[in-house]
Amino acid sequence: MTSKELRAKYLNFFKTRNHKVIDPAPLVLEKDPTTLFTSSGMQPLIPYLMGKKHPKGKRLVDSQPSFRAEDMDEVGDNRHTTMFEMLGNWSLGDYFKKEQLKWFWMFLTEELRFDTAKLYVSVFEGNEFVEKDEETLSIWKSLGVVEDHIYFYGVEKNWWSRSGTPDQMPVGEIGGPDSEVFYDFGTPHNSRFGDKCHPNCDCGRFSEIGNSVFIQYKKVGDGQFEKLPQQNVDFGGGLERLVGATFNTPDVFQTDLFIPIIERLEEQTGKKYQKDDNFTNIFRIASDHIKAATFLIKSGILPSNKLQGYVLRRLLRRTAVKLTQVGFDPVLILPKLVDPAIDIYQGTDYFKTGDWDSIRQVIEDELKKFQQTLKKGLKEVEKLQEINGKIAFDLYQTYGFPWELTEELFDKKGQNIDKIQFEEEFEKHRELSRTASAGTFKGGLAGHSEAEIKYHTATHLLHQALRDILGPKVFQNGSNINQERLRFDFSFDRKMTDEEIKQVEDLINQKIKEDLRVDHKTVPIEDARKLGAIGLFDEKYGKDVSIYAVGPNYHLDPGAKDQRDRGGYYSLEFCGGPHVAHTGEIGGVKITKEEAISQGIRRIRAELISVEQTRMLC
Ligand code: ALA
Repeated sequence: MTSKELRAKYLNFFKTRNHKVIDPAPLVLEKDPTTLFTSSGMQPLIPYLMGKKHPKGKRLVDSQPSFRAEDMDEVGDNRHTTMFEMLGNWSLGDYFKKEQLKWFWMFLTEELRFDTAKLYVSVFEGNEFVEKDEETLSIWKSLGVVEDHIYFYGVEKNWWSRSGTPDQMPVGEIGGPDSEVFYDFGTPHNSRFGDKCHPNCDCGRFSEIGNSVFIQYKKVGDGQFEKLPQQNVDFGGGLERLVGATFNTPDVFQTDLFIPIIERLEEQTGKKYQKDDNFTNIFRIASDHIKAATFLIKSGILPSNKLQGYVLRRLLRRTAVKLTQVGFDPVLILPKLVDPAIDIYQGTDYFKTGDWDSIRQVIEDELKKFQQTLKKGLKEVEKLQEINGKIAFDLYQTYGFPWELTEELFDKKGQNIDKIQFEEEFEKHRELSRTASAGTFKGGLAGHSEAEIKYHTATHLLHQALRDILGPKVFQNGSNINQERLRFDFSFDRKMTDEEIKQVEDLINQKIKEDLRVDHKTVPIEDARKLGAIGLFDEKYGKDVSIYAVGPNYHLDPGAKDQRDRGGYYSLEFCGGPHVAHTGEIGGVKITKEEAISQGIRRIRAELISVEQTRMLC
């Protein structure tokens, strides 16, 4: 089946089940700073999964071009791509598991006519917060899936959120258990991937062709989840893999979504995709990366050293190095892959005629620049007297020299390089970039990362502690938080003494040690004032205001006599949150600086420290 037919069949299947087709979102979402790219169909729909009304109703369907930079190094096998098209359907608080699983099964077995003997499913086995998904199990059974085609997995495989498993989710993130369907290509198991083969084994026998996520939860704190106001279905299935399965091929590069690009490569190089493993690998990388680059440039991204631009640059460089290594000129070949990449999507709205020339030009310019860098790198290499694994890695980092190229240069000089050292450096770097991209992701959630939430509550404690030690003339003037520190500006007319700083610090850490509960309430503004709530109160809030109270007494008492009573709370502030649930989660706080920033205004910087460090401090 062609990709066009399959895409149309899918959209129609759900249209006849009262779904409205929505337009695909751009690859870079303007209003979502939380991720670099649109990497799944649900991403633009998050507000609606959380309860907002979608203008097209509760049943949606689409086909979404998606990009996953984190898969770049995996590309080269038969099924990984950075760029793919995700078929998606959603229930926004409408139908649930029974309908979803039945419909997807019907789509596979009746529309695509897959043999049920080739289909396997997975079900969430449960954990300490969310129970085993018995309902999904019984639905699969009722649809005729035999027991030995049903596998149970934990959160690593059968829980889905944009940021991964429950512990990796930042507060505010939504997710839920999922159920996947796999196609069995029947290839022999490779014991390098484990003793026994199973649907999630990486040996290549099975390919995941669809994932139904039951998005029902929002993370509200460490290990704490709240049910969303509605139960949602978020389905995603890779078009490339589904088309491959209709031909019983696990190789997505052998589908019409890649063949025209591979053929152009064969023409340009005179090499055959299937004849030589080395070229199979290089052609896969080139066709995926240039297709992805074409989509990214079309979305307005240009090569650069930052964020999306850097990812685009890496795609082009990785491809250029691979081609150079086997003796081809990337500048002559790669821009020629843009036309077939765009042709593949004729009949969709993804490209317009005008895009083609400029996309080719951007790729060509970037590749030319890279060739200069490569030349410079070669000169540097010539000058080097000695080499080791670390230097080899630096060459890889700076000039994009792959291991094989460096090894071969130095081999001629009769020098061996320690490959283990190179690999160790490589792993270190990979770990760093993984952390960095997780950081971009979490940090981007408008101040909702775990560290920022802790800083937020620590700021409330600091504000109150300053008033307790220096007196009620202290008042907040400004506050700024990032993942590394908090900054707090307040009114006070002189430098704090070392003794005062220590007292404030000790008081905050005392309140953290007491592990006070943090309570959120929306109360009429008069009550908040009577209680003596402090903080920057924005007049535009309206009649009811949001306040956060830090224990120990949990009864808001508007009758409390003065602000020292604060209804029995240690701290009471006007605030929109979010905050930790208990002050103990903060660990500890250290004031790192106290200074004047203008007449009568002081600034404090403080950092989070561990409980052990706090003990040493006190
Ligand atoms: N959002 C789900 C995924 O990307 C469907 O797998």
